[in-house]
Amino acid sequence: MELPFAESYKIKMVEPLRRSQRHEREQWIKDAHYNLFNLRSDQVFVDLLTDSGTGAMSDRQWSEMMLGDESYAGASSYFKLKNAITDITGFDFFLPTHQGRAAENVLFSAMINSGDFIPGNAHFDTTKGHIEFRKATAVDCTIDEAFDTTLDHPFKGNIDLNKLEKVYTTHPIEKIPLIIITVTCNTSGGQPVSMQNIKEVAALSKQYGVKVVFDAARFAENAYFIKTREEGYADKSIREIVLEMFSYGDAMTMSSKKDAIVNMGGFIGIREEALFQKASVFNIMFEGFITYGGMSGRDMNALAQGLYEGTEFDYLETRIRQVAFLGSLLKEAGVPVQYPFGGHAIFVDARRFLPHLPQEQYIAQTLAVELYVEGGVRGVEIGTIMADRDPSTRENRYPNLELVRLAIPRRTYTNNHMRYVAASLINVFERRDQITSGYEITKEAPILRHFTVQLKKK
Ligand code: F0G
Repeated sequence: MELPFAESYKIKMVEPLRRSQRHEREQWIKDAHYNLFNLRSDQVFVDLLTDSGTGAMSDRQWSEMMLGDESYAGASSYFKLKNAITDITGFDFFLPTHQGRAAENVLFSAMINSGDFIPGNAHFDTTKGHIEFRKATAVDCTIDEAFDTTLDHPFKGNIDLNKLEKVYTTHPIEKIPLIIITVTCNTSGGQPVSMQNIKEVAALSKQYGVKVVFDAARFAENAYFIKTREEGYADKSIREIVLEMFSYGDAMTMSSKKDAIVNMGGFIGIREEALFQKASVFNIMFEGFITYGGMSGRDMNALAQGLYEGTEFDYLETRIRQVAFLGSLLKEAGVPVQYPFGGHAIFVDARRFLPHLPQEQYIAQTLAVELYVEGGVRGVEIGTIMADRDPSTRENRYPNLELVRLAIPRRTYTNNHMRYVAASLINVFERRDQITSGYEITKEAPILRHFTVQLKKK
């Protein structure tokens, strides 16, 4: 008999979970104004809100925590992290930050001015938020294939070179300081960008004098997909692929809470000293001195260790296969999910799930609430609420896709939890015709509204 696949780790510490009743969840979600961010974690059974900072650290990471050097300046933990970052990413200069959006804040302060245009592949919401906060415009150049969830394309995170060149030729080039390549592309469904595409985008951008910045939160998962899907990379190690990917960039922002498997942390990798010097000033102002930048020594140690573990093939295979396991259970039951399955999450196509609901009633949010009520499973809306209002017209932006993201924390849940999640969603799918109305907004913030929005039933 062929031996089945099994996880490349075993469990040393556990955290109890409380199961709840449907009537309790109905009350809790009402009290939370139908915003899943407002739920308490003990009101949730399987929490797939995010894969960010929710993973399980390894015994080695925990032991590194004990070796943290908490000196304000020049801590050994800083140098340990610096060596790991140069080793894994190839960037010679780095700045620690407390998380990914802080890295965006610091780097963009040094690079983006009012009136600029920042092309990229479906910028993440905080990235877009930091661009728009500076009165600049994010221009989405993702390939069209990304918006058809039924299409099986291996690199749906790719940037359309024609769209990109159009941005470069129709705007004053001095207004385009950088392009952002998000690997993997979270907003388009955890979809990877091919090495070929990265290479071509970098060559085109160089021609126009535009700097290439990676939003690298899930860079290792991107490398896994390159290794397993792109011709010529099967025999390369994840770390070789990562080094090649970053060799095409001038800088990177990192949310270490994803592929570096820590609960908090971030950093900026920079190629040239001049940019590093410029960004250092903002780092000191917003984050902390350049040898800790919002992180404690112990956290830098755990992060350094996490960068090595997160770029091991066996770890990545276990992780991505678990995500695909959930995806295939849903696919077999006919639930409309995005293909191919993403690296960190399964994206449920809420428009195809609830085709009778109008987009003005927040289709994906409606589905996310139903899933919570059904099984205590918390996913997240990636649809009209997250797309927010146009900063100038203040009109709702209606995105092409209405998705519910089920993000899987790293090394945290078992495949039985995946079966439970699938069963919950399949139950909702079977009663989808009875879901006849959605929600309306009663209160919202002027930017990044999804975190605090309040809703009522339509
Ligand atoms: N870039 C990407 C692609 C992200 O997915 C995130 C965070 C960030 C930047 C910001 O990083 O949270 O450390 O400040 N994504 C989380 C998510 C929140 O749930 O996908 P952060």
